[in-house]
Amino acid sequence: MTNGLHPNVHVSTHPLIQEKLTRARDRRTDREAFRNLLAEIAALMVFEFARNFPTRPVEVETPLERAGGAALAAGITVVPILRAGLGMAEGVLHLIPNARVGHLGIYRDENTLQPVSYFDKLPPDVAESHVVVVDPMLATGGSASHAIRVIKRAGARNILFLCLVACPQGIGRLTSDHPDVLIYTAAVDRQLNERGFILPGLGDAGDRLYGTG
Ligand code: PRP
Repeated sequence: MTNGLHPNVHVSTHPLIQEKLTRARDRRTDREAFRNLLAEIAALMVFEFARNFPTRPVEVETPLERAGGAALAAGITVVPILRAGLGMAEGVLHLIPNARVGHLGIYRDENTLQPVSYFDKLPPDVAESHVVVVDPMLATGGSASHAIRVIKRAGARNILFLCLVACPQGIGRLTSDHPDVLIYTAAVDRQLNERGFILPGLGDAGDRLYGTG
């Protein structure tokens, strides 16, 4: 542990991310602005999680001569956890437009807080790629842990989890179930309430994105 946080957890303290997160938390922020903010924050966080992606050397012809350069050594697969993860996936794809996308449909049972899986569709070569699992909220950690288990079953070994708001309980669950998975978040909030909502949090991201609340 450093600063009370598990070493797998990276908190994005960049001022642009924090300013956008603050607006996303604000209950007065409407659907359109909320959707834009989620995508913008996710795009900014790409710089943080992709910093250590391995590259391989390539050469190109400039108009004048050959130049050495770099290409990403592995493919990238973005896996949004439906529904709210879609809002962040859009931002990641903005910067990595060639990434493949896998979808995992998971909702949390309101009474038991257990994840319920209703859809899985991963690209065939997911085992060889860097997998970025995206979901704005890491609450109990049940949904993220289940999603990563499904992705590992498909053979993937290089997996990270990207969210906007985490809490100690979700971090504890994910780091214990998947100690090999790094967590990138814009904030670690105080606690979960008795209904499993993160406090202070940003409400129900799926409902705020899609107007279903
Ligand atoms: C929310 C959120 C995560 C999950 C987090 O989804 O987007 O997927 O809950 O909770 P957990 O860490 O306790 O599992 P929700 O169940 O509201 O589904 P939705 O995105 O379709 O609204």
